[in-house]
Amino acid sequence: MTPLEASIAIQQLTDKINHYNEQYYQNSISEISDFEFDQLLEKLISLEKQFPQFKQEDSPSQRVGGTISKNFDTVTHKYPMLSLGNTYSEEALIDFDNRTKKAIGDDFEYVCELKFDGVAISLSYENGLLKRAVTRGDGTKGDDVTANAKTIHAIPLKINKKHHFPSSFEARGEIFMPTKSFLAINAEREENGEPLLANPRNAASGTLKMQDSSIVAKRKLDCFLYGLMSDDLNAETHSEALSMLKQWGFNISDTFKVCKSIQEVMNYIQYWETKRFELPLDTDGIVIKVNSFEKQEALGFTAKSPRWAIAYKYKPQSVSTILETISYQVGRTGAITPVANLKPVLLAGTTVKRASLHNANEIERLDLRIGDTVMVEKGGEIIPQVLAVDLSKRDPRAQKVTYISQCPDCGSELVRKEGEANHYCPNEKGCPTQLKGKIEHFISRKALNIDGIGAETIDAFFENNLVKNVADLYDLTYEQIVGLDRFAEKSAQNCIEGLRKSKQIPFHQVLYGLGIRFVGVTVAEKLCNHFHTIEAIQKASIDALKEAPEIGDKIAQSIIAYFADEDNLMLIERLQKAGLQFESVHVEKEVESNRLEGLSFVVSGVFEHFERDEIKDKIISNGGKVLSSISAKLNYVLAGENMGPAKLEKASKLNIPIISEQEFIEMLS
Ligand code: IVH
Repeated sequence: MTPLEASIAIQQLTDKINHYNEQYYQNSISEISDFEFDQLLEKLISLEKQFPQFKQEDSPSQRVGGTISKNFDTVTHKYPMLSLGNTYSEEALIDFDNRTKKAIGDDFEYVCELKFDGVAISLSYENGLLKRAVTRGDGTKGDDVTANAKTIHAIPLKINKKHHFPSSFEARGEIFMPTKSFLAINAEREENGEPLLANPRNAASGTLKMQDSSIVAKRKLDCFLYGLMSDDLNAETHSEALSMLKQWGFNISDTFKVCKSIQEVMNYIQYWETKRFELPLDTDGIVIKVNSFEKQEALGFTAKSPRWAIAYKYKPQSVSTILETISYQVGRTGAITPVANLKPVLLAGTTVKRASLHNANEIERLDLRIGDTVMVEKGGEIIPQVLAVDLSKRDPRAQKVTYISQCPDCGSELVRKEGEANHYCPNEKGCPTQLKGKIEHFISRKALNIDGIGAETIDAFFENNLVKNVADLYDLTYEQIVGLDRFAEKSAQNCIEGLRKSKQIPFHQVLYGLGIRFVGVTVAEKLCNHFHTIEAIQKASIDALKEAPEIGDKIAQSIIAYFADEDNLMLIERLQKAGLQFESVHVEKEVESNRLEGLSFVVSGVFEHFERDEIKDKIISNGGKVLSSISAKLNYVLAGENMGPAKLEKASKLNIPIISEQEFIEMLS
């Protein structure tokens, strides 16, 4: 393809994909299948890699991420990001209303909005293009998280030219993690034995500060806008500004309301007090703003916050009920989780029957007794928490809860590793709940995705001694299954068919399905892309494992421990014999040119346009060689950000030219 052809193709693909994205995310219309969409996107990404000079500023490939940011630049806000005065009482709101009236008279409106619980963000647009996304930081300076913010579909990369918008403006809002995404991530983390994210707000702020934007892209963050600033704004009121933002393609929650009096504000507060729990995100209060910009200006600011706005925070909702029993759940990794079984009680619109007790320390902290009256809260945390015990209601005869010392399932003596809060059942190879949990994980959608087998099927196989581990599944015959109680011919066929199909599931899903501790979906993908075969992963040393992206000490140790266990090796051997995929499909590396023929490179540091493996592939596909250490024979050191000082020194000593990513891209074109 000639550069001219490439530039046209890139422009056309960009426009086409942006159109499909807009239809999908703004208008909920799917004009093409996911598969076709992915193919277009892949084509664009591959062309952009070959011809980075033609990548469009609003390229939809930015939604997929890929940029690695080792540090986030600090940026000074053009307009400071102020905070709001908080109140918890209606009296304080009346005071606010009186103060406002005293300053600007009676003739004004308020706008009430929900207070979204996430991370404040400022999005700067120049000539309709998103230039920068910056966090609040200390209000004066924040972190530049543009690459990560660009993966969020709710944030437009470019405003359609058909609208009238100021050449320079800032949209302000809140990036948040929808409750559904939060619960899904935690369910997966729990499965993998990873520590849970505390609440959606922490999850959103942690995600936004991740170094690898391709992981951010998978975390499904969302964004509501609640402010617009510009030196030439064509609006007189805040509510007009919100409508404008909405027209330009921003996400505005339609929960806002213009209120003509403080009484209407109170009604709004009351309405959303319980209704807010039906929203797809956490909210912790409401924000009341004077609608007219002119009146906002007249009211001005205190040192920290505007006089024209105030936040009313809802008190965390709590209720008292009786602790009836404590049960103990055993996870797939053997971790024990105590759960409080409560007398059912209505809280924030749902009936609560159970609350998390986390671990033995928490039970100790609460000094719990069965029959206690406990306060249960549904606050930032989605799962109800036991806050405290109402000692005035305690029956003096009630016995202190003693934590179990044996596994509730297999009876093994529990262990507690130093520094860990959880107790574990150590009977990894015999505890039925753990064994079944491992098989359930293996068949789950993101792993082998076996249709036709569910938790109940596994129970039945287990009880009938047909299956003890995942490899046994592949020895099952139709006759064995159909012979079981409650299994019709059709469901037996479905099991066999599901197992047969699972032999085509790609290697990274199989690797995830093995259930190695700390190897979640993303880590499994990274391992497969880096090592390609199970043998290579198995043979890798700790250091070699840590060279793969995203793999740190903890994960590497866990992988080494997994492969040190003979039983695991036997299991893999049986799965290999059964025909499962243990190799990434080999993609023939395309030869792009011979421009780098005869040249050798050492690659060091972090790059803007490529992951390190990609830049190495690029060298090879253009005829060059990649070496691992610097010697006198080397032609170039290709240096990204944060190149190691030892390499730098050695290259300078040997007079080897050090080139930047940009210079490398120029060499190719
Ligand atoms: S307006 C000068 N509106 O609350 C006023 N803030 O303490 C700027 N927030 O950091 C904020 N929802 O992150 C505004 N509808 C809303 C909001 C909202 C959430 C957050 C925001 C800010 C904090 C203010």
